[in-house]
Amino acid sequence: MKVLLLGSGGREHALAWKMAQSDQLEKLYVAPGNAGTAEIAGSPDLAVNDFVGIAEFIAKEGIELLVVGPEDPLVGGIRDFLEADGRFANLMIIGPGKSGARLEGSKDFAKEFMLRHHIPTAAYRTITAEKLEEGRAFLRGLTPPYVLKADGLAAGKGVLILDTLQEAERELEEMLAGKFGKASSRVVIEEYLSGIEISVFALTDGTYYKVLGSAKDYKRIGEGDTGLNTGGMGAVSPVPFADEAFNHKVEERIIAPTVNGLKADGIDYKGFLFFGLMNCGGEPKVIEYNVRMGDPETEVVMPRISSDLLRLFEATARGTLSEAAFETDPRSCVTVMLVAGGYPENYRKGDTIQIGNTGECLVFQAGTKRIGEKVVTNGGRVMAVGSYGKTIREALEEAYRGVSQIGFQGNYFRKDVGQDLMKFTER
Ligand code: AMP
Ligand code: GLY
Repeated sequence: MKVLLLGSGGREHALAWKMAQSDQLEKLYVAPGNAGTAEIAGSPDLAVNDFVGIAEFIAKEGIELLVVGPEDPLVGGIRDFLEADGRFANLMIIGPGKSGARLEGSKDFAKEFMLRHHIPTAAYRTITAEKLEEGRAFLRGLTPPYVLKADGLAAGKGVLILDTLQEAERELEEMLAGKFGKASSRVVIEEYLSGIEISVFALTDGTYYKVLGSAKDYKRIGEGDTGLNTGGMGAVSPVPFADEAFNHKVEERIIAPTVNGLKADGIDYKGFLFFGLMNCGGEPKVIEYNVRMGDPETEVVMPRISSDLLRLFEATARGTLSEAAFETDPRSCVTVMLVAGGYPENYRKGDTIQIGNTGECLVFQAGTKRIGEKVVTNGGRVMAVGSYGKTIREALEEAYRGVSQIGFQGNYFRKDVGQDLMKFTER
C-alpha cells in the first residue's frame, strides 16, 4: 500500500513508526514531516492545508491511503475536496469530512450533538454578541470557577477558566468583541466539572468502532500542573483509574452513542475519535471531542497497539472494522516531551540537538529539522521520549534515562509526568 500521512509532529512520527511495521506497506510519505519521520518515510514539501498540492501528489504517486494527522485540514474539508475529484474514487481516507469534523471545529455543534444524543457533558449556553445579557444571566446562575470557550478553532488557546464572576463577564465581552477573531464570535459558557481528566481514543468506520486506548496528558508547562497550557508535556497509557467499570460506562454512555449519533445524523464518519473526558467521581462526562489523535497521547497509544495499523485503517475505510483483528500490549507506556526554553511563549529555533544512547526508548521527534548532518530544533515541542514498562514507575525510570541522553540549548521537560497516578496502583 502507498500511504501519505499529513502532519509534522510527534503524533505523526508515532503513526508513521507504527505504519512502517506493517507488511502491507509499500511506500510511506509524511508531509511535511520532520527529521524523525524523514528517517522512515519520504518528506514531500507540502503544507497540510495545500489541498491542490496534496491532490496532485496523490495522483502522481498513486497514493492509496491518506491519513490526516492534525485537525486543521479536516475542519477545512480535505476529505470533501478529494471526494469531489473523480480521480480519487478508490482513495482510502482516515479522517472525517467537514460535517463530522464540526465535532472539533465548533464547540456549539459538539454540545448540541451531545444534547441530542443524550451524551453526558457539562451544562452550557451558547452566546453571541446580541445575547450578551442572556450570557451574563447564565453566568450568574453558575458557581465558580467559570468556563468560557471560543466556538471555533483557536489553536488550543480558546478556553478560559476564570475564578470570579467579574472576570468571567469581562472576558465574555472581550471574546465576543473578537479576542480570538472569528473563533469567538460565538462563546460557549459551561458549567465547571471537577475531577481527573482522561483521554480515550477510538477508530470508527461509521458503524463499528475499536477503542484504541486511554491516556492521561500533562497539559501545563510547570510541575504540579502549574503555569501556562501547552500542547501536552507528557502522557501515560493506560490510565490506572480507568478500571473495567469506568471503561464500560465510557463505551456505553459515550463512545457507542457518539458513533450511533453520527450515523443517525447522516454523517458518514471514518477516522479517529478523541474523547476528552472528566472522571467526575466515577462518572465520565465529555469535555471535548477531537476528530484526530492527540499529541503526545499518540506516542503512548500507538506503541500499545499490537495489531497491524494499516490493516485497521484499510478496514476502517472499507467499513469492515468489525472483522478486523485488534490486540493491545498489556504493558504501560509513558512519554516525556522535551521542549524548547520559553515554550509555550517565545522560544528559539535552530539549536543543534545531541542524541546519545537512548537504548530501547521510544523516541518520537516533533519540532525537529535536519540540516546536513545535524538535527536542529524547529518548534516548541521538540521530541517525545518514552518507554514501555511492567509498571508506570518502571516505564518512567527508563523514559527519564532516555531523556538524559538528549541535549540542546534551553532544553526543558517536566520531571513529574505520571507521579499523580502512582496513588491509584502500582501498575
Ligand atoms: P478544551 O480545549 O475543551 O479541551 O479545554 C481545555 C481544558 O480546559 C481542558 O483540558 C480542561 O482541563 C479544561 N476544561 C474545559 N472544559 C471544562 C469544564 N467544563 N470543566 C472543567 N474544566 C474544563
Ligand atoms: N494533547 C492534547 C491534544 O492533542 O489535543
